[in-house]
Amino acid sequence: MSNITFDYANCLSDRVGDQGIDAAELKAASPLLAELTERLNSSKGTGWERWRDLPFDPIRSEHIDQIIGLVEKLRPTTENLIVLGIGGSALGNIALQSALNPKVYNLMPREKRGGPRLFVLDNVDPQLVNQTLQYIADDDPGFDRTIVNVISKSGETAETAAQFMIVRSMLKQALGDTYAEHVVAITDPAKGTMRSICDEEGYATLPVPDGVGGRFSVLSPVGLFSAAMCGIDINRLLDGAAEMDRRCSDSEPLKNPAAVLAWLLHQFTRRGKPNHVLMPYCNALYDLADWYRQLWAESLGKQYDGDGQEIFAGATPIKALGTTDQHSQVQLYREGPNDKVIGLVEVMSFDKDRSIPGDLDVENLRYLHGRSLGELLNAEKAATEYALLESRRPNFTIRLPKVDAFAVGQFIAIWEVATSFAGLLFNIDAYDQPAVETGKKATFGLMGRPGFEDWKTRVDAALTITEHVI
Ligand code: PA5
Repeated sequence: MSNITFDYANCLSDRVGDQGIDAAELKAASPLLAELTERLNSSKGTGWERWRDLPFDPIRSEHIDQIIGLVEKLRPTTENLIVLGIGGSALGNIALQSALNPKVYNLMPREKRGGPRLFVLDNVDPQLVNQTLQYIADDDPGFDRTIVNVISKSGETAETAAQFMIVRSMLKQALGDTYAEHVVAITDPAKGTMRSICDEEGYATLPVPDGVGGRFSVLSPVGLFSAAMCGIDINRLLDGAAEMDRRCSDSEPLKNPAAVLAWLLHQFTRRGKPNHVLMPYCNALYDLADWYRQLWAESLGKQYDGDGQEIFAGATPIKALGTTDQHSQVQLYREGPNDKVIGLVEVMSFDKDRSIPGDLDVENLRYLHGRSLGELLNAEKAATEYALLESRRPNFTIRLPKVDAFAVGQFIAIWEVATSFAGLLFNIDAYDQPAVETGKKATFGLMGRPGFEDWKTRVDAALTITEHVI
């Protein structure tokens, strides 16, 4: 059982000169980091930091028991699992599936898959919704062997509600009164519109517990139910998260990976590098970079600090993929504005590597004979790291021994704890999202929801076009 590591040597000035940070500055920040670790350790498991309890008992066992009970009942007869959700109620599900199941999972025969095909509808694009639902309706046995997993903490989000209304209606039409047996809802255990619908219609439900916000919910039933249905080892995932959480609680700051990661990125943001790239050299981890984008952006992008001062905090998370984006983005990262920190993600050992055959014997290609794709991928990563250093571009590497549930759990936990650290460093509330709420309310107004009429008036007034359209 080996741990993922955080290698930040290339952020320091002995590697990138005046574009980096002196190791002595980091050392001097130790008392601050120790104090913040202490603060986070004492708020752990309270208020909006109850997400930190998710990998630990008793909440862990409660969730696992509920999830496994449902999975054992439903998985044998489920061919399609449709997740309806958006933002924190979908990105983690997509990321876990991409990281821990084969890319061609849905195309594999059932015996090889072990679980249902997974479809995550995280938008109301009619084409996406129509094509997916049509595919399932035309499939044999179609809705008969389909479970719809609707996820909404608030139970109010328009996109998820609209999708659910469409899917529910199709299910009802196909299955009659038994349709409710095909719905698993994950929502607030006590309140909200979705909760009332569940109580009324008798769906199986799993909780989004109090103190677990959307973007911090992947290790709750929100992310774990679909993962377990698709055969992912959710216990190992939580073991990994628990292990990393312990490391991130270390009050010896230079041993605490989340504290150092957050401190460096906060410092770089203040020193003209507010663009934070995450670039896995591994396709399976690309959707985790998408998950990180939401976590970093929605948690830290805040207009006001904790004292009510306008500060416009935050950093712009960017996702990239190695090596693919070496042929697209790296030109900019090396020669464009030096306003980025580039996080590389490296996998030390690939599950099934592939060796390059030697039967095409051309002089210029002979160097590839017998080498593996994993070797090439990691050589490209090292080459990019070197090239970034040559251009004095700060970068760091998160290294995974291999891509498995334990490592992915650790990867999730380091970013979640680093985000809460960064929230303290920026002195903002990492757990609210007032700007997202504005969009939600304006949508209600535009779509005619009673009580939101003046939002429509405001939007119409602001968007009335008089000129400047050509
Ligand atoms: O992180 C968040 O809080 C948001 O991204 C939410 O997850 C997203 O808006 C969906 O909200 P809900 O689960 O209430 O439908």
